[in-house]
Amino acid sequence: MKPLHTLNVDLADRSYPIYIGHHLLDNPALINDHIQGSSAVIVSNTTVAPLYLDKVENSLQSAEIRFDTVILEDGEAYKTLRSVEQIIDTLISQRHDRKTTLIALGGGVVGDITGFAAAIYQRGINFIQIPTTLLSQVDSSVGGKTGVNHPAGKNMIGAFYQPQCVIADTATLQTLPDRELSAGMAEVIKYGLIHDADFFAWLEHNIDALMQRDIALLSEAILISCRTKAEIVAIDEKESGIRAILNLGHTFGHAIESAMGYGNWLHGEAVATGMVMAADLSQRHGWIPLDIKQRSVALLQKARLPVQSPEKMTVEQYMDIMAIDKKVDRGVIKFVLLKALGEAIVTSDYDPSKLKQTLTNC
Ligand code: NAD
Ligand code: GLY
Repeated sequence: MKPLHTLNVDLADRSYPIYIGHHLLDNPALINDHIQGSSAVIVSNTTVAPLYLDKVENSLQSAEIRFDTVILEDGEAYKTLRSVEQIIDTLISQRHDRKTTLIALGGGVVGDITGFAAAIYQRGINFIQIPTTLLSQVDSSVGGKTGVNHPAGKNMIGAFYQPQCVIADTATLQTLPDRELSAGMAEVIKYGLIHDADFFAWLEHNIDALMQRDIALLSEAILISCRTKAEIVAIDEKESGIRAILNLGHTFGHAIESAMGYGNWLHGEAVATGMVMAADLSQRHGWIPLDIKQRSVALLQKARLPVQSPEKMTVEQYMDIMAIDKKVDRGVIKFVLLKALGEAIVTSDYDPSKLKQTLTNC
């Protein structure tokens, strides 16, 4: 009930705590203490609401907070402006003013949509993140990236907007489908690759128990992941520099997600394959030895993640989609690549012929 760990994201007057622990949703004070007005709107989806909505409702009822709920359709395909509009329709029709709080209860899709609605409703209202997937507990709920997709590109519409707090209840991971656990593990492995070689080795050692949902180990992995992300975000909130390393594998991954149709490859699956491609491109430049790429592939495979680009994707398709990635700078695609295990760089200084080899061979 009490958080096992509390971390702080240090962003001056936009700082906030991340609570990590088991059965945190049974602790009404955690949510209620971060609601500043006397009303709230809970946003969830058709899968998560039947599992956990009553816990959040009970918390609000215990403090006599007036609330409404918006239940979105489930899936990346619904990460659209239409869903944002659905939330805003409820906010307006139920007369929620600027003091209301939005509560995102769900995975990264619900969190990103809700955060964006919070950023734009009446020029910004408070919101709370209650991430219920591993991916959202280690990544998307922290750091204030919010937004939705455009048919032409992933996360093309959005805002940086920080929550009041993040409540990561590890008990919610018990109902997570295996495939989603794997997808979250891709982002966990990412932190080892970009920032922390010891954590990578710890993951290699513990991956089987993590995949069997050992809660103590999962809590440790969430803590280390969130700590890394919080440190990076505190240095570079708006991604003008170092924060971009959090996108290891994402440029390739977003192209896969987009080409395969949103929702067919999970975000974490596409990132996993994208990280292999990034490792491959790094290795082709001689920046990392083959052995680091092989260890990455082995760890991702043990996390039951795909490590090969979809067969039907062509080099041209990758290049076309990546050309509209947010990391394109004056027409040149920037990639996050590895200089060592635990060290990433963002660079446009790569050999295009080696990129073509990676896109052809991975
Ligand atoms: P998701 O939100 O689609 O959730 C995955 C699936 O699990 C969904 O079907 C969901 O309903 C279900 N689910 C959620 N919690 C559950 C639970 N406890 N038990 C059973 N089922 C549950 O996917 P995700 O992987 O959480 O998030 C992916 C999204 O996050 C993508 O849109 C990606 O772009 C975004 N993202 C954002 C950031 C960021 O910084 N904002 C970072 C990484 C990813
Ligand atoms: N997931 C990348 C970031 O938050 O910057």
